[in-house]
Amino acid sequence: MSEAPKKIYIRTFGCQMNDYDSERMYRLMEREGWQRQAEPEGADLIVVNTCSVREKAEHKALSEVGMMRKYKAEKPGTMIALAGCVAQQMGETLLRKSPDLDLVFGTHAIDKLPALIENCAHEKRLAETSWDYDSLIDFEKIAPTATDNSLSWKGTRASGFVPIMRGCDKHCTFCIVPQTRGKEVSRPIDDIVREVRDLVDHGIKDVTLLGQIVNRYGRTFAETKAPVFHELLDELAKIEGIYRLRFTSSHPTYITPELIARFRDMPQLASHVHLPVQSGSDRLLKTMRRGHKIDEYLDKVRELREARPGISITTDLIVGYPGETEDEFELTLQLIRDAEFDSLYAFKYSPRPNTPAENEPETLTESEKSDRLARLFEVALPQALARNKALVGKSMDILVEGESRTPGRYYGRTACNRMVYFPAESLAVGDVVAVRIDEAFQNALAGTLAAN
Ligand code: SAM
Ligand code: F3S
Repeated sequence: MSEAPKKIYIRTFGCQMNDYDSERMYRLMEREGWQRQAEPEGADLIVVNTCSVREKAEHKALSEVGMMRKYKAEKPGTMIALAGCVAQQMGETLLRKSPDLDLVFGTHAIDKLPALIENCAHEKRLAETSWDYDSLIDFEKIAPTATDNSLSWKGTRASGFVPIMRGCDKHCTFCIVPQTRGKEVSRPIDDIVREVRDLVDHGIKDVTLLGQIVNRYGRTFAETKAPVFHELLDELAKIEGIYRLRFTSSHPTYITPELIARFRDMPQLASHVHLPVQSGSDRLLKTMRRGHKIDEYLDKVRELREARPGISITTDLIVGYPGETEDEFELTLQLIRDAEFDSLYAFKYSPRPNTPAENEPETLTESEKSDRLARLFEVALPQALARNKALVGKSMDILVEGESRTPGRYYGRTACNRMVYFPAESLAVGDVVAVRIDEAFQNALAGTLAAN
């Protein structure tokens, strides 16, 4: 009798890049004959894929490892691995801190996972955090393409993610990403086109391009004539069957006239731009080394809205950066009103190790930061609701993503990235239907199928 396949379970924290990396890990291990599973019970390998962008990351990662300890006790021989940004940042120290850990591997070691598991099984506990830019460029080897039968996505998903670059060279003073993901590297255009085409061939209609600053795509290629971001979009828009193209995150400095023109002329481009700004104060933007001013930011927002009426603009904001005065915080509130963000993410500043701002003395207490965050949402949330309410009565094209828990109700996304719930009979994932918006909430819309 042949041996039962080994099983892998991955617990993923953090951003979409981490989701993609976890998918790569699953794929790699499936190629070695392993099976993925949705629960940690009974797994032979448990991976905790971590995020370190905000504080307590290490604590959170190690407490998750602690939670997984019982599965190891129940099934001796089970390995526990820690991956992702906390692993890259702390490496071997983690093995000392947690006796439960068998393996620590960083963001550049993902393609080595099968070999690392093999070594771990035969030898001892390992930490692998060296930088390996060559393996990163060679995504093709390990990309979670849909061609594999074990991963047939047909009919189960309408949207997919494709990284177009890795790392970041921007070194904003608060941010740990350049330390945990390394230098910026763009992926060859042919590989991206092939992967997107593959997803589309397998029924994916809505593709999100991923990167820390996607609109810097191509700028690190050596050739002077290397393609840049809007040219990548042009290539992808030619793929037959692609319905929507999205991207995240972008940086205001690299929103070029050519990119804005694509929002005017390229129907496949979704009506949404996530454009992190961080603060409404020019002084703080300079301190944070963001490289632009608020006026310039508002100009880009206005140009995007002129090019694509109804486009949704979302952002990231930080409150309580060292030295942020009450007046500067109020400039952030004013920016939320002026830019009329459709929604936003806001965070309390937390100092991160080895970042330029790490040693800046903090000038606000946790409770003052919490207070500012609450005041920020008092402005942002009613505004988000009002912008959603402005859509009531409109008919919008919805890409169906699934059936909700209530039978007979479906959900899907608008081009402007809003989730819409509506009743219907027997729709399939990936169908596109026109829905009239009847009701608006802070984070979603509800409607009814519009008559054709
Ligand atoms: N690549 C994105 C960009 O263009 O700005 C940001 C990536 S970061 C993973 C996501 C968000 O986390 C940032 O936009 C910022 O608002 C927030 N963030 C990063 N470092 C932070 C820190 N030390 N404290 C609080 N928030 C932070
Ligand atoms: Fe971080 Fe700034 Fe890059 S926020 S990911 S260093 S653009």
